[in-house]
Amino acid sequence: MNLLNGNEVSQKIKLEIKSKVEAMRAAGKKAPHLAAILVGSDGASMTYVAAKEKDCHEVGFDSTVLRFDANTTEEELIAEVIKINNNPNIDGLIVQLPLPKHINEKRITETISYKKDVDGFHPMNVGMMFKGLKTFLPATPFGIIKLIEHYGIETSGKYCVVIGRSDIVGKPMSALMLQKNCTVTVCHSKTVDLPSYTQKADIVIAALGRPGFLKGDMVKEGAVVIDVGITRVEDATAKSGFRLKGDVDFESVAPKSSFITPVPGGVGPMTRVGLLLNTLEAIELFK
Ligand code: GUN
Repeated sequence: MNLLNGNEVSQKIKLEIKSKVEAMRAAGKKAPHLAAILVGSDGASMTYVAAKEKDCHEVGFDSTVLRFDANTTEEELIAEVIKINNNPNIDGLIVQLPLPKHINEKRITETISYKKDVDGFHPMNVGMMFKGLKTFLPATPFGIIKLIEHYGIETSGKYCVVIGRSDIVGKPMSALMLQKNCTVTVCHSKTVDLPSYTQKADIVIAALGRPGFLKGDMVKEGAVVIDVGITRVEDATAKSGFRLKGDVDFESVAPKSSFITPVPGGVGPMTRVGLLLNTLEAIELFK
């Protein structure tokens, strides 16, 4: 069993980005500028936005975080998005999800200019990604692809099972693995006899958000196992009062796998790097 070390790989990629940004600044060019909009004070969202801001500083990007009250109206938010769309100084924009219930997420996502949509959530970018055209890729699947490539994991002709069909992870992940010449099955909550698929898979990507779901008897010997789950579970011994638990039961799955991501330190840091890579890309793509 080998660990797919997202901490290590993300650090290496961040250093590469940092030196590119230093070269841009040295050449008198503008550095990439990421703007993030945060509405309300959801604990996880505040943590994620703070992490994204820290990542930007680490690689030398400019970063702006716009924080709004939980009772901001949809129209006010739309007006902010349009302002940023029209601001030539800002290359990438993310609106942290989830938004308060009174705001239509779909409408916000579709108002962000696809040219600045570094989350890759805009239907235009989703379409281009599915067609294999160069565009912003959703950060988690993008980070997973980078991790797989870093470790030289063979994908061509392999059988990949993705568990979960979310717009953010499962669906785009399946498209990207297909582009890497895998034979892909997407399993989900209505799949009948899910283990019959995972037991045949060379690569399993678990993204269903159920802690410890994938057990050792559900994977074949030598499988590559990617764990996207990051559910917060209570843990009185942790300083924060919780710890992150993946969708994979690491204890029973790890001994059977050839490669496996730990949680934390696997997919999480690669997701963060995916956003940085998109933001770096944003200074040229569509311009
Ligand atoms: N909420 C959870 N994941 C994400 C993400 O990747 N992007 C944004 N904008 N919000 C999120």
